[in-house]
Amino acid sequence: MNRKILLQEQDIPRQWYNIAADLPTPLLPPLTPDGKPVTPDMLAPVFPMNIIEQEASTQRWIDIPEEILDILYRWRPSPLRRAVYLERYLQTPAKIYYKDESVSPPGSHKPNTAVPQAWYNKQYGIKKLTTETGAGQWGSALAFACQLVGLECKVYMVRISFDQKPFRKLMMQVWGGNCVASPSNETNAGRKILAEHPDTPGSLGIAISEAIEAAVTDPSGKTRYSLGSVLNHVLLHQSIIGLEAKAQLKSVGEKLPDVVVGCAGGGSNFAGIAMPFTLDKINGAKIDIIPIEPTACPKMTRGKFAYDYGDIACMTPLMAMHTLGHAFVPAPIHAGGLRYHGMAPLVCQCIVEGLHTPQSIDQMECYEAAMTWAKTEGFICAPETSHAIAGVIRQAKQAKEEGKEKVILFSYSGHGLMDLMGYDAYLSGKLKPYYLPEEEIIKSEECLAGHPQAQERKSGKW
Ligand SMILES: Cc1ncc(COP(=O)(O)O)c(C=O)c1O
Repeated sequence: MNRKILLQEQDIPRQWYNIAADLPTPLLPPLTPDGKPVTPDMLAPVFPMNIIEQEASTQRWIDIPEEILDILYRWRPSPLRRAVYLERYLQTPAKIYYKDESVSPPGSHKPNTAVPQAWYNKQYGIKKLTTETGAGQWGSALAFACQLVGLECKVYMVRISFDQKPFRKLMMQVWGGNCVASPSNETNAGRKILAEHPDTPGSLGIAISEAIEAAVTDPSGKTRYSLGSVLNHVLLHQSIIGLEAKAQLKSVGEKLPDVVVGCAGGGSNFAGIAMPFTLDKINGAKIDIIPIEPTACPKMTRGKFAYDYGDIACMTPLMAMHTLGHAFVPAPIHAGGLRYHGMAPLVCQCIVEGLHTPQSIDQMECYEAAMTWAKTEGFICAPETSHAIAGVIRQAKQAKEEGKEKVILFSYSGHGLMDLMGYDAYLSGKLKPYYLPEEEIIKSEECLAGHPQAQERKSGKW
């Protein structure tokens, strides 16, 4: 039995996989506030045209430029590992494999898309990228990528994480990035929120508004915005995770996993591991594909499928997705990257179809899972990743009850070495379970009133 399953550099995938080509029912289009489909030229002030083309593409396979691979080789192909020590501890007949995305220089899956996004912007003649960051993983990944391709980088970091994770800010600085707490005084969106709620912990929705505003108002016209999750092109770039994992499982004689799990904030690492296997499910394989969200931010399990904005200032197009409402500000849980009101439209369409079956798990169970992981496998996981591990432990226990030798695959999206404050809160007994009250959901969804209707369209096959 191999605990570390490695691919050679020459076996790295040379094309990304685009699930948009295979969805049984096509995605609902992004819309303007008056209900008209968004055209590429409307997005041009925000993204470069080469990225916009990928966003709209329904081509199944898209070539990865050699220059991008040359950067990714620093850590890719990433290892697939077998969590035998956890298996033994749980006394489960299940085999647990995890795709280790924590080995990238910034420590998560985020550079898989930061690098291509920075590279395509550079190709297009852009000089500077702006972005938001929750936990700081995305901001540090984009700063890293901008450093390598030669772009300036400005990051609006959600205030709660800015305060909890000072080292992430320093990482961004080491890679030449400029990071401020959001809401900030630098943008109209930030100033407005600060005037109304001076003590706000911030949210990804607020930080996105600030970053987009900073990009589109730059008089040089050479600044664009970069998003670390949710959008189609981001999920496309992350497909390298699942494509590598598929080749690695095959190399040790596993046909297909029975269960695929990932934590989901905006959906990118989950989609990265899940979409290549979702294709197998579309083609008839029996696989449970499970995105996990926190009970504090339960958009997939308790939100509405509706047209909604990606940010609080309504600067993004309206997207058909599961959402708690763009004005929702989640409780300040430590899994900062999972504190987002909406979910990637591609994942949402898979949920509507029944291809993906989401679950929500409370942060106490997740930290318990993270502790079990550290005591057995030895690694300290990111608070976001602990949600995937908690989901996997549930599955492994169920396999034990059923006496089934299931193959479970999950995305180990990042390490937690910069997130020890959350562990501190857990170990000192300060963390409490948090279940979002129904009244809050009803209230936060009020902001959806007047949006175009999103009809759930499905083939009825799953
Ligand atoms: C380690 C880690 N995992 C998961 C996520 C969630 O993002 P996504 O759903 O886009 O993968 C984040 C986001 O910051 C993260 O840092």
